[in-house]
Amino acid sequence: MYHKIINGETLNEMQKMPAKSIDLIFADPPYWMRTEGVLKRVEGTDYNGCADGWDQFNSLEEYEEFTRKWLTECYRVLKPNGSIWVIGGMQCIYTIGAIMQQLGYWIINDVVWHKKNPTPNFMGTRLNNSHETLIWATKSKKAKFTFNYKTAKELNIDTVDEDDFQKGSRKQLGSVWKIAVCQGNERIKDENGEKLHSTQKPEELLYRIIAISSNKEDVILDPFGGTMTTAAMAKKLGRSSIMIEKDTQYCEYGQRRIDIIEYEDTPIANAIFDQKPKKATMPDMITAGYFTTGESFYFRNGEEVATLLEDGKLLYQGQPIDMHSCAAKAREVKAKRLNGFDVWFVKRNSELVSIATIREKYRQTI
Ligand SMILES: C[S@@+](CC[C@H](N)C(=O)[O-])C[C@H]1O[C@@H](n2cnc3c(N)ncnc32)[C@H](O)[C@@H]1O
Repeated sequence: MYHKIINGETLNEMQKMPAKSIDLIFADPPYWMRTEGVLKRVEGTDYNGCADGWDQFNSLEEYEEFTRKWLTECYRVLKPNGSIWVIGGMQCIYTIGAIMQQLGYWIINDVVWHKKNPTPNFMGTRLNNSHETLIWATKSKKAKFTFNYKTAKELNIDTVDEDDFQKGSRKQLGSVWKIAVCQGNERIKDENGEKLHSTQKPEELLYRIIAISSNKEDVILDPFGGTMTTAAMAKKLGRSSIMIEKDTQYCEYGQRRIDIIEYEDTPIANAIFDQKPKKATMPDMITAGYFTTGESFYFRNGEEVATLLEDGKLLYQGQPIDMHSCAAKAREVKAKRLNGFDVWFVKRNSELVSIATIREKYRQTI
């Protein structure tokens, strides 16, 4: 795994990169906030929002041209089955979304990042702006992009039903994510103890995005690196990263941040919830000695129903039949098939044991 910071202008740097080389892009571009003058808090102190040089544009045309150029480069470097996330506020996300569609991107989802602790609207002149929008897209409708669906469920703390949660069952992750803005120790400070960057994104947001839409060892590109939140979370999750950032100071602080982050070998990083179980056929398990040809198959209540044949089928009422169809037939249900692993038991030391339990033991050996 590697983590590369490129201190430069994003368009120039992306143009040097090979086409179709990136698995996932996270882009947090200039929002063109258009804030003017000094914003005052209610008690009169100055609020340091985002009035940075890198966020200034002269016109909508200029912002559109810049947006079109970097999104075109992202399209070129992204693999056909890769995906891209772009985050923006109300100032820019509509422009970005329109241009993405013009360039051929296919939108998978838009996600609302609902800020748990938004900046207040100090003057009380309009609604408190408490969310940002993320657009998640692929290069085409046909793209087979990575989506670790079950990992996403595991990370769902937004729509939790306490009882389900206790039982270990999770709801599908939705498109409204409640995450606090970056604060406390996570916020990188400069040598004067002031926040280094005005728009540092929360680690939790990037952790979630990377965990659900990439796999271990994938390469992630962030064309607007800032404090390198993307690289820090990529490293934590065992992915590689390429970060582009034109401000040298941000690059230096970001490098230090990446250096101290460690990879965490967790089920989330490995997306184990989404791993397909190892194939375990009945004939293989017979060969391995986990089942015996001629042994009886029972219902949970101990009723002896069928006999195991050499090819893994069951002998039921004098006919060979696969165990799933046999389960439906013997149970006399409308469905043509039931999952036999939920239905059948065998005897081990005179006790009934589910064949699913035996299959799990076998899987651990292969
Ligand atoms: C919205 S901030 C990204 C913040 C970042 N996601 C984080 O968590 O710290 C955008 C960053 O892009 C950089 N930037 C803006 N325009 C750029 C350009 N044309 N080339 C390279 N970097 C640029 C800015 O210096 C700024 O740090």
